[in-house]
Amino acid sequence: MATSAVYLRNPLIHAHSLTKPLTTTRPPFRIHSFSTANMEGSEIRESEEEQKKIFVAGATGNTGKRIVEQLLAKGFAVKAGVRDIDKAQKSFSESPALQIVKADVTEGSEKLAEAIGDDAEAVICATGFRPSWDLFAPWKVDNFGTVNLVEACRKRGINRFILISSLLVNGAAMGQLLNPAYIFLNVFGLTLIAKLQAENHIRKSGINYTIIRPGGLRNEPPSGNIVMEPEDTLYEGSVSRDQVAEVAVEALVHPEASYKVVEIVARSEAPKQELQDLFAAIKQR
Ligand SMILES: NC(=O)c1ccc[n+]([C@@H]2O[C@H](COP(=O)([O-])OP(=O)(O)OC[C@H]3O[C@@H](n4cnc5c(N)ncnc54)[C@H](OP(=O)(O)O)[C@@H]3O)[C@@H](O)[C@H]2O)c1
Repeated sequence: MATSAVYLRNPLIHAHSLTKPLTTTRPPFRIHSFSTANMEGSEIRESEEEQKKIFVAGATGNTGKRIVEQLLAKGFAVKAGVRDIDKAQKSFSESPALQIVKADVTEGSEKLAEAIGDDAEAVICATGFRPSWDLFAPWKVDNFGTVNLVEACRKRGINRFILISSLLVNGAAMGQLLNPAYIFLNVFGLTLIAKLQAENHIRKSGINYTIIRPGGLRNEPPSGNIVMEPEDTLYEGSVSRDQVAEVAVEALVHPEASYKVVEIVARSEAPKQELQDLFAAIKQR
C-alpha cells in the first residue's frame, strides 16, 4: 500500500442566499463611486457599497491568517473570529476592512452567532485543535466546534460555508485503514473521524458548502500546481497553505464549487489550471 506523510499536526447572519456567487470583478466587493460635484475644492467623495463580509473562524491559524490576507487583498471585508484578540492584533496589519472578534468554537452556537453578527455573507472555517493534554480536544474542536459554527450560520441565515478539512478523513472507507497517517491522526483523539463527523453534519444541514480536503500543509510558497480530485480519491501528497487559502477564497466566487467536496495536493508535473475549471470538473454527490 502506498503511504505517505500526509500531514500533519502534532498528536499530543440576514438571510443571504448565496445561490448566486459572490462576483469577482475587480475590485470585487468594494464599489467606489466618486463624486466630482465639488472639484474646485478638490473634494472627492467616496462611498462604499457592496463590500461582502466573510467570517473566518481560526483566523490566527497558519491557514486562517492566509485566508484573511487573501480575502482582504481581493476586496472582501473580513470578520476574523479568534480565541485571543491580542494575538490577532499583533498578527494582522490594521485595515478598515478587518474586524476582529472573539470566537471560541467550543462555546456553543449562540455565542458564535453573536460573534458572526448580522452582516456576514459566508463563513470559512480554518480551525483545528491545538495539541494539549486534552485527548478530547480534536472531538471538541474539529467535530463539535464545526457543528456549532454550522448551527450559528443557520441561526444567522447564512447559506455559504467553506471548511478546511483533510485528506483521508474517510480513510477507512477508502481502504486506507493501515495508512500510517490515518492511524497516527486517529490514535491521538480520533482527529480524522472527528472531521468526518463534522463534514457529514454540514452535508445534511442543507447549507451551501465547499469542503476542502488538503494533503499535508506546508508554510513554504507553492512549489507545484494544484491537483483537485473528488472525495475519497487522494491519500498522499502535500500542498502550500497559500494554495489552500486561494482555493477557499476562490470557492466563494465560483458557483462551480457549491455543494462539493474537493481534495487537493500540489504536484510539480501537474498542468496549471484555472480553479474555476478544477471546481467544475468535480461532480456533486
Ligand atoms: N497540518 C497539516 O498538515 C494538515 C493537513 C491537512 C489538513 N489540516 C487541517 O487544516 C486546518 C488548518 O490547519 P493549520 O495547520 O493551518 O491550522 P493551525 O495553524 O493549527 O491553526 C488552527 C487554528 O484553529 C484555532 N482554534 C483551535 N481551537 C479553537 C477553538 N476552540 N475555537 C476557535 N479556534 C480554535 C487556533 O486558534 P489559536 O490561534 O488561538 O491557537 C488556530 O487559529 C486544520 O483543520 C487542520 O486539521 C492540517
